[in-house]
Amino acid sequence: MIAKIWYYNGLLRVFKLIYVCLDIMVYSRDEGLFLGRLIMIIDDIIEIAREAGEILLGAKRPKIKEKDGHANFCTEMDEKIQEFLISKLSLILPEAQFLGEEEGKDTFSSKMSKGFCFVIDPIDGTSNFIYEYRPSVISIGLLKDGKPYIGVVYNPYDDMMFSASVGEGAYLNGEKIMSSDRPLADSLTVFGTAPYYSGLRERTLELVGKLLPLCVDVRRSGTAAWDLCCVACGRCSLYFELRLQLWDYAAAALIASEAGCFVTDIDGNDISYTGPTSVLCRAKGIKEIPDFFLK
Ligand code: IPD
Ligand code: CA
Repeated sequence: MIAKIWYYNGLLRVFKLIYVCLDIMVYSRDEGLFLGRLIMIIDDIIEIAREAGEILLGAKRPKIKEKDGHANFCTEMDEKIQEFLISKLSLILPEAQFLGEEEGKDTFSSKMSKGFCFVIDPIDGTSNFIYEYRPSVISIGLLKDGKPYIGVVYNPYDDMMFSASVGEGAYLNGEKIMSSDRPLADSLTVFGTAPYYSGLRERTLELVGKLLPLCVDVRRSGTAAWDLCCVACGRCSLYFELRLQLWDYAAAALIASEAGCFVTDIDGNDISYTGPTSVLCRAKGIKEIPDFFLK
């Protein structure tokens, strides 16, 4: 069995190398090499996310540290997985910089808008993890020159691997996905409470109150990256949250865009990949922003 897997993986790599060579012939040499490298990199990132998922699944009751803000926790597992991700990802792209939730560097700096930058959330849904409420996901985004290039989000509890690279579509466990065409009235929607920013509670609940009668029902999962992926694969048709950090949405926003979603801030402006920002994600069937979002 192992030999078989090894054989197929090897074969896949050979096909990819042929693809890289074709790229070099079709595009300029540098561009072709770059595209080819990217194709290999996304597979490596997927494997690393899968390994991180195994660490998460094997975790025992975690030690918890409190960070700034209401109920903003970090566990030793967040730190352990972040260290694991940084050590593995820097092997596949040594020139890349890192922005990670548990790294202490909590803002996007202009330095990060040049070259490659991994934006990682080792456990998106840390409270879910602490309270054994599922899911929690591993989120790995790769920016190039400040623009999204690759997004990988892995839910190890259900073995669901979402991935996308810019211009190449979005995938769930290797199958192409598209967001839903359903009208809002026939859709589930999902939202985040921006839990670390008490000043946003009232407005969040006001928006949920307006959204609820217009759709089938609303959901709150506890992980923003997962919510965006749920819109990307058609489970829900709309997601909003009034404040997210870049590591919460960098990977999943690309996955959603590649699945045909409209990903904007709450005022309808194109999403910026610098964070923090509000996020409004609509499946492709929701052409207009419901007017109560736009005050
Ligand atoms: C949080 C989750 C949550 C969202 C918060 C995020 P964390 O991330 O994504 O769903 O409502 O805004 O900060 O703290 O679990 O990594
Ligand atoms: Ca997060």
